[in-house]
Amino acid sequence: MIKLGKKDILGIQEMTTDEISLILETAESFLEISTREIKKVPTLRGKSVINLFYEASTRTRTSFEIAGKRLSADTINISASTSSVVKGETLLDTARTLEAMNPDIIVLRHSAAGAPHLLARMVRQSIINAGDGAHEHPSQALLDMMTIKEKKGRIAGLKVAIVGDILHSRVARSNIYGLTKMGARVVVAGPATMMPRDIERMGVRAYTIIEEAIADADVVMMLRIQMERQKQNVFPSLREYAQHYCLSRRHMKLTGPDAIVMHPGPINRGVEISPDIADDPACSVILDQVNKGVAVRMAMLYLLSGGNE
Ligand code: CP
Repeated sequence: MIKLGKKDILGIQEMTTDEISLILETAESFLEISTREIKKVPTLRGKSVINLFYEASTRTRTSFEIAGKRLSADTINISASTSSVVKGETLLDTARTLEAMNPDIIVLRHSAAGAPHLLARMVRQSIINAGDGAHEHPSQALLDMMTIKEKKGRIAGLKVAIVGDILHSRVARSNIYGLTKMGARVVVAGPATMMPRDIERMGVRAYTIIEEAIADADVVMMLRIQMERQKQNVFPSLREYAQHYCLSRRHMKLTGPDAIVMHPGPINRGVEISPDIADDPACSVILDQVNKGVAVRMAMLYLLSGGNE
């Protein structure tokens, strides 16, 4: 019997390759449930999952809710904007209030890097990081790895180019940790003002020219520009950014054959990716990523709840 052996899932940085593989394999076994007429199994009956979101979300929050419901857990959604947070309650007081109601898992998205780590130390429930500031977004990286594995048959040995606002992207950080651990060769590209100075210490090669980064890539992962995290203008205008970094048809001639195009969403169409590429079923796997998100989050809830016990 294999168990995750962790109380919390806070980031990919602290995960082993065995733990990543276990989540991906468990998620693969859950994919089929979402294709059934009755999309529900009793696996987590009697468990409660609270989705506590201090930042906006469509994909992550909805898929954690669907994942919990498909496993028969009771799922409760709390948005900061409609909770006592607006009356000044702190994150810790909110968490302790929820702890007193005895849920099993709290899924937290917060604008502050490290917020889920703080909660994990302070409350007895399992904490899942659903995105903390510009730090990590582990469930996104896991669903991205699952999509790559399905589409390309493997992760090890692939060249993955991550392009865009690397500096402010928790998706980039989690994917760099995960993909390099799983044996991929990761390169990043973006304007110098959107590139962490010490990025190459994460085991990636950095470029400022997109054409150089995506040459012969098996996977091109475009990132959203994180306007909400930019404290100053890091490029002159969206138009200028798009001229240099918007993935378009001409770029696909430079990639490896059958390269796939990914984007975590939400997309700024015509800024990071041209609509004809985003909507091209021959290369775009953006909606496959969303689909895998439910299975990956089912696996995370399942394995944290005791797995195969
Ligand atoms: N990719 C992602 O985290 O999307 P949401 O912000 O919609 O959850």
